[in-house]
Amino acid sequence: MKDIYILGIETSCDETAAAVVKNGREMISNVVASQIESHKRFGGVVPEIASRHHVEQITLVLEEAMRQANISFAELDAIAVTEGPGLVGALLIGVNAAKALAFAHHLPLVGVHHIAGHIYANRLVTEMKFPLLSLVVSGGHTELVYMKEHGVFEVIGETRDDAAGEAYDKVARTLNLPYPGGPHIDRLAHEGKPTIDLPRAWLEEDSYDFSFSGLKSAVINTLHNAKQRGETIDPKDMAASFQASVVEVLVTKTVKAAKEYGIRQVLLAGGVAANKGLREELEKQFAELKDVELVIPPLSLCTDNAAMIAAAGTVLFEKGKFATMALNGNPSLELK
Ligand code: KG4
Ligand code: ZN
Repeated sequence: MKDIYILGIETSCDETAAAVVKNGREMISNVVASQIESHKRFGGVVPEIASRHHVEQITLVLEEAMRQANISFAELDAIAVTEGPGLVGALLIGVNAAKALAFAHHLPLVGVHHIAGHIYANRLVTEMKFPLLSLVVSGGHTELVYMKEHGVFEVIGETRDDAAGEAYDKVARTLNLPYPGGPHIDRLAHEGKPTIDLPRAWLEEDSYDFSFSGLKSAVINTLHNAKQRGETIDPKDMAASFQASVVEVLVTKTVKAAKEYGIRQVLLAGGVAANKGLREELEKQFAELKDVELVIPPLSLCTDNAAMIAAAGTVLFEKGKFATMALNGNPSLELK
């Protein structure tokens, strides 16, 4: 069978990224221009700044991805781009770049859901085995996604308020740690002890949904009350206690769902997948579940990138699910 080469483009948040992927599995190039430095001093992503950076970077990033792949547009089979969800102004830059390239080079266009991309990052590591379950944890998402075949997604649980990464970033800010706070809390957590009693939001017994805003408030209140009493709380112990709560809920629900749905493979996805505490606990729990394979991609594939968009786009290409020139950025696109 003929090989399929797809150029992926991702601009949904604060990374401008382009990549070429062969057959949905093999990364030929993967270029990511991060804007973290520009957003740091604001303590979070500023949408207008993100859009401006994407405009400045997109052409360079695309050229670099094509150069590193050593491929011409004539050899490509399609252009895949993140359609949503994300910041609308940021999405538009990628979508318009993709449309311009597809039009100029007579290539089909494929619109990809950002979370489908995060899940398919795993296919760049190993072949997917169905039925599978993906725990998607990022700055904007916390979802348990069930898949019985390629390209078909069923969200069985999601956050009712803050995303896991968002909770990490907010708690980090109250501890005066730089943005993005996730990695800093993770590091501190390993130096401290989970001595502070914080809540775990289990919700209804049969629910796979998550909630992190109560936990975030508990951290803020505990710090505030201690300050008023003139006491100090070691940030390391707070980080360890917060992380213990997040990890316990994420892992317990993932293990329960894996058993209930007769899952063969569990895929970790999204930026919070970089979390050492989460990785360690998942590895420990799934070591005991012999018939379930746990896949944890390398860090570079967990955070936003375009190879994952090209990988997910390849499945849509194979199914003939193309977008038209009316494709638009959709900030609240649903995964299905
Ligand atoms: O997937 P991603 O790059 O962007 C989104 O699509 O949101 O995820 C970014 C999120 C940020 O909230 C960041 O704090 C978090 O991932 N993160 C971590 C770690 N590394 C990144 N959270 C916890 N522990 C980490 N080691
Ligand atoms: Zn993401």
